[in-house]
Amino acid sequence: PLIELQYGKNVLAKRIKDYFSIQAVHIVKGNSSDPGGSNELLGTEAASVFASRIGNGRIVAVTGGGTMAAIPRHLSCYPGAEDTLFIPARGGVGDDIGQQANVIAATFAQTCNSSYKSLYYPESLSEEAHTVFLKEPTARKMLDLYESTDCLLHGIGDAQKMAAMRDSDEDEQQMLASKGAKGEAFGYYFNGAGEIVHRLRTVGIQTNHLERIPLILAVAGGSEKAEAILSYLRGAAKQTVLITDEGAAKEIVSLI
Ligand code: G3H
Repeated sequence: PLIELQYGKNVLAKRIKDYFSIQAVHIVKGNSSDPGGSNELLGTEAASVFASRIGNGRIVAVTGGGTMAAIPRHLSCYPGAEDTLFIPARGGVGDDIGQQANVIAATFAQTCNSSYKSLYYPESLSEEAHTVFLKEPTARKMLDLYESTDCLLHGIGDAQKMAAMRDSDEDEQQMLASKGAKGEAFGYYFNGAGEIVHRLRTVGIQTNHLERIPLILAVAGGSEKAEAILSYLRGAAKQTVLITDEGAAKEIVSLI
């Protein structure tokens, strides 16, 4: 039927890809926001897209979160996997150890029988402490690696949920709300127009690194995250590949 065709995965994917002028869009079945929904299909698709696109890339930065954590569970070896270095795209966030970028980088490396580096850096440091930490050799080395990162694999979060998870104080949460923050990715908060409205003071991938990273895989799904994903896509780099689900994709298309 015509209606179904209109909302078929391929049609949705093409619409989103063309509208935001990004590299590619992959849509998996279902809606991970549904009760009992999970990130496993997103993880499966992201693992397969990553393995097929990484090519000779050897430095891979990953962020945290439940969606990212699902990817290594579905990753099988690809040519040259053992030479890949997995690094966290930023320091720690929240209390769930299994969802830390450090742990996810290590899990990728275990799966690929390759190596990883960790970055023990709390996300909310005072300006003073941040300035001092930036001079530390571990931070310097990580910043150098971000300069030569071949692939960034990252999640996208709802701005308010991420702020709450980071234990942001009342003032910060209000500031984000007043600036219309909708989405968050690698420590940056975006408003509905895709503008950066806040940035965490942290050691991590910065937006100026993005233009030099040939492969950016953004993985996020669920209708509840549609506005967050949309806010990120409005400012997304051209080489971004989005991996999402039907729940988010339908909602995004209805909003553009
Ligand atoms: O860092 C968090 C991600 O951006 C979103 O996390 O995959 O658990 O929703 P999630």
